[in-house]
Amino acid sequence: MPNPQPPLRARAALLAAALSGSLLAAAPTAALTVPDDMAQRMQACVVCHGKEGRATNHGFFPRIAGKPAGYLFNQLNNFREGRRLNSTMTYLVDHMSEAYLHEIAGYFAGLDLPYPPPQTTGAPPALLARGEQLVRQGDPQRGIPACSQCHGTAMTGVNPAMPGLLGLPRDYILAQFGAWRTGERRAAAPDCMAEIARRLSLEDVTAAAAWLSSQPVTSGPAPAGSLAPKLPLDCGSGLR
Ligand code: HEC
Ligand code: HEC
Repeated sequence: MPNPQPPLRARAALLAAALSGSLLAAAPTAALTVPDDMAQRMQACVVCHGKEGRATNHGFFPRIAGKPAGYLFNQLNNFREGRRLNSTMTYLVDHMSEAYLHEIAGYFAGLDLPYPPPQTTGAPPALLARGEQLVRQGDPQRGIPACSQCHGTAMTGVNPAMPGLLGLPRDYILAQFGAWRTGERRAAAPDCMAEIARRLSLEDVTAAAAWLSSQPVTSGPAPAGSLAPKLPLDCGSGLR
């Protein structure tokens, strides 16, 4: 369900007002019992991204809690500027200032919450083995670097702006690779993920997504400190 339509959009309109604090401003008595802080305003995101942004079990919405602040900011900005397409997300961030997007990104990045158990279970062992091989070693013959070279050996991301790959729903991962291939998702140039998506076969994308989405995140979900000085491909995002 990549693009939830009418009922959610109506709700999103109300949520957008709550986000800016305007509902609370219009109702001073409510403000006495409902604190106008970030946690309260960000309730708007919970419908889709789950309580405190820790993901729902709907199989598509990505977790946002605990991701690197630079990465979250880049994505909010990408939705605002059309480098990622999702009508609700664009609608929500359309009129927000850059400073507010930074505030939102910082808020979710600061939430250190346990992860739910992985969604994908029972995938065929051969598929999982191929997925793990791609993630940890890549496929040098086809010019595919190991995912872990950029996303961190623990695959939990690297500060300030490299996202983790664990805890993402399988369908969400598949959709992102599809979007890079069609140009619907773009990052600052050079867009290394678009290049990697072009080099990977559909079978390999399926294998990597199956393995990643079946891994538990037991300890240390926090992003790692810093990246190797030289990435296997040049990336315009991820480093800032
Ligand atoms: C109506 C559902 C909905 C609501 C409400 C919503 N989102 Fe989203 N959000 C999505 C979907 C769907 C995606 C994935 C879109 C895609 O495939 O690119 C997404 C993606 C994102 C991403 C990118 C995540 C990543 O890992 O790249 C961020 C960040 C985000 N949302 C933040 C927010 C914030 C902050 C709010 C509240 C202000 C919010 N969202 C409210 C549906 C929603
Ligand atoms: C050369 C570095 C590099 C390599 C290698 C790499 N990635 Fe990425 N990846 C990135 C960057 C940078 C981003 C963030 C792009 C952006 O800002 O939108 C990203 C984003 C992603 C995302 C989006 C996460 C989200 O929450 O939406 C997925 C999924 C992903 N990569 C999967 C993979 C997989 C699977 C592999 C291995 C086959 C891989 N990546 C290899 C640099 C890399």
